[in-house]
Amino acid sequence: MRFLLLSALAGIASASVLPWTPADPTTVDYNNLTVALVRAEPANWPLPVMNKNWTGVHFDINATVSKAVTLIEEAAENGANLVVFPELWFPGYPKGLADNVSIAPYIQDYVDNSLEVGTPQWETLINAAKDNGVYLVPAFSHRDGNSIYMAQALISPEGEVLLLRHKLRPSGGERTIWSDGDIDELKVIATPYGRWGLLECWEHFHPAMTYNIQSQAETLHIASWPYTPNPADASAAYWESAEVNVAAARLFAVNTGAPLVYATVGNARFLDSQGLDITVVNASVPLDSVPLVYTSFNTTGLANTVPYTIDGEQSYGILQQINAGFPSFIPQVVGTFVQKNIVLLSDLLN
Ligand SMILES: *[C@@H]1O[C@H](CO)[C@@H](O)[C@H](O)[C@H]1NC(C)=O
Ligand SMILES: *[C@@H]1O[C@H](CO)[C@@H](O)[C@H](O)[C@H]1NC(C)=O
Ligand SMILES: *[C@@H]1O[C@H](CO)[C@@H](O)[C@H](O)[C@H]1NC(C)=O
Ligand SMILES: *[C@@H]1O[C@H](CO)[C@@H](O)[C@H](O)[C@H]1NC(C)=O
Ligand SMILES: *[C@@H]1O[C@H](CO)[C@@H](O)[C@H](O)[C@H]1NC(C)=O
Ligand SMILES: *[C@@H]1O[C@H](CO)[C@@H](O)[C@H](O)[C@H]1NC(C)=O
Repeated sequence: MRFLLLSALAGIASASVLPWTPADPTTVDYNNLTVALVRAEPANWPLPVMNKNWTGVHFDINATVSKAVTLIEEAAENGANLVVFPELWFPGYPKGLADNVSIAPYIQDYVDNSLEVGTPQWETLINAAKDNGVYLVPAFSHRDGNSIYMAQALISPEGEVLLLRHKLRPSGGERTIWSDGDIDELKVIATPYGRWGLLECWEHFHPAMTYNIQSQAETLHIASWPYTPNPADASAAYWESAEVNVAAARLFAVNTGAPLVYATVGNARFLDSQGLDITVVNASVPLDSVPLVYTSFNTTGLANTVPYTIDGEQSYGILQQINAGFPSFIPQVVGTFVQKNIVLLSDLLN
């Protein structure tokens, strides 16, 4: 591609040569999907995986985007069609700082290094998808107006943003930093390889997030977790342990009947549609020696999957049954968890 561009500039090639040529859909094999998940750390992220010492460390969105482009190029060279990043990889999950009090000394730096749509950094990611002909799922701290959100996007090899979603309910202390997403963003996207759905980390524990995605007949589930240690790591709290989070992923895969991409820094894996491991690379394996993990899926016929199952376990009928069977002694009051929480940067940066 670079050669063609140089040739065009030198007037050697004909005027019809473009710096970028879209992949010819008739030559793409949509029956074989190769997914690369990123398990390397973002720029300036303390290591090893459970190290939460941020003293003297700065978030760096530019260096993180540059590192991402290198990883995307490597993945594409190895045949990947889809590259998936861990949660808040841009500019880095603030492990140990993920509440408004702990992050206070770093919040200006964090917000300054959150990703805005339409900026040169964002366009660099869009161009990386196009130049390498891959689908891309970046997971990032999204600065939008007077708030930041825990975002995931699905970008096509043509550079089109097919989905831009925000974690519906950030978890625990996260709720004091990032604002809530919207329910209409719980959308499964039809691609030529099949139906892809996206969720982040603790969303996999909430029926309000899992049920709506599972009802839409995914053929591949794309999950971004921030970081995962090895099982039995005594330094891990239950909510960051491999045991608890991988259990949620296994349950999700079984309930969906689709394989699952578990992108996370450290202990990363692919699960099959029965919730069992296909490939695991544990957190003891140096991130720079295995920055990406690959699996190929036979996707023959999946693009024709009907977008819902009337008789399924996550169906309209079951939803009515849950509603009808809801205990009558519980007052029919909509609690505060359902209300959309917005954290204003003007308050956070005070
Ligand atoms: C954290 O890192 C700083 C800078 O490298 C170092 O001085 C300090 O001792 C570390 N703190 C702990 C608790 O390890
Ligand atoms: C980051 O990259 C942007 C766009 O390429 C550039 O304008 C900006 O100066 C860079 N920032 C730093 C701190 O290097
Ligand atoms: C699918 O693609 C991968 C990566 O290009 C390749 O290694 C694998 O052999 C392919 N599988 C089939 C069944 O063609
Ligand atoms: C942290 O967030 C909580 C809940 O939103 C809020 O009540 C509190 O005032 C905030 N504290 C600081 C130091 O910003
Ligand atoms: C991690 O994986 C490596 C390479 O497969 C293996 O040698 C090592 O025993 C594993 N460690 C743990 C804690 O599972
Ligand atoms: C892929 O799946 C299709 C449909 O189930 C099957 O006919 C085909 O043999 C499979 N291809 C490979 C290479 O396993």
